[in-house]
Amino acid sequence: MKISPKMKKALNDQVTLEASASSSYLAMASWCEVTGYQGSANYFYMQSDEERTHMLKIVHYLNDMGAVASISAIKAPVSSYKSLEGLIKTALKNEQTVTKAIHTMVDIAQKEKDHSTYAFLEWFVNEQVQEETKFETVLQKFDLIGRDKLAINEIDKILAMDAAAPADTVA
Ligand SMILES: [Fe+2]
Ligand SMILES: [Fe+2]
Repeated sequence: MKISPKMKKALNDQVTLEASASSSYLAMASWCEVTGYQGSANYFYMQSDEERTHMLKIVHYLNDMGAVASISAIKAPVSSYKSLEGLIKTALKNEQTVTKAIHTMVDIAQKEKDHSTYAFLEWFVNEQVQEETKFETVLQKFDLIGRDKLAINEIDKILAMDAAAPADTVA
C-alpha cells in the first residue's frame, strides 16, 4: 500500500464526512422546498450533489492507491429548521468542520512525507475556502437586506440565481 494506515483511516473518515454533508444538504433542500423557499431548495439540492462528488473523489483516490475505500453508515441529518438563516448557519458550521478535517489530513500527509496525498488534498483545501466564503456571503445578506418576509424572499431569489448560474464550484 502506498499510503499509511493512519492516512487511509483519515481519508475513509472523510468519505463519511462528505457523505454526511451531502445528506445534510439534501435534508436542508427538502425543508426549503416544503417551506416555500424554492430558490434555496434548488441551491441546496445542488450543494448536496456537489458533496457527493467530493465523496467520490476520495473513494476513487483510495481505490487508485490500492487502499480500498470503505463505505460507512451515516447518521440521519437534522431535517427541520427554525429559519433559513439558522439553516445557513448550520451549513457554515458543517463546512468549518470539514475544513478542519481536511487540514488535519494535510498535516498527516506532511508529517508522513506522503506527497501524493498532499497533492491530492490541495484541491480540497482550495475548495473549502470557496465553500466557507459562499455561506458567509449568504449570511451577510441577512444583515444587509433584513430578516422580514420580503427580505427573506429576496435572499431566496439570490440563492435561486446562484443555483442557476454556471456551476463553477461543481467538481
Ligand atoms: Fe465537501
Ligand atoms: Fe462543502
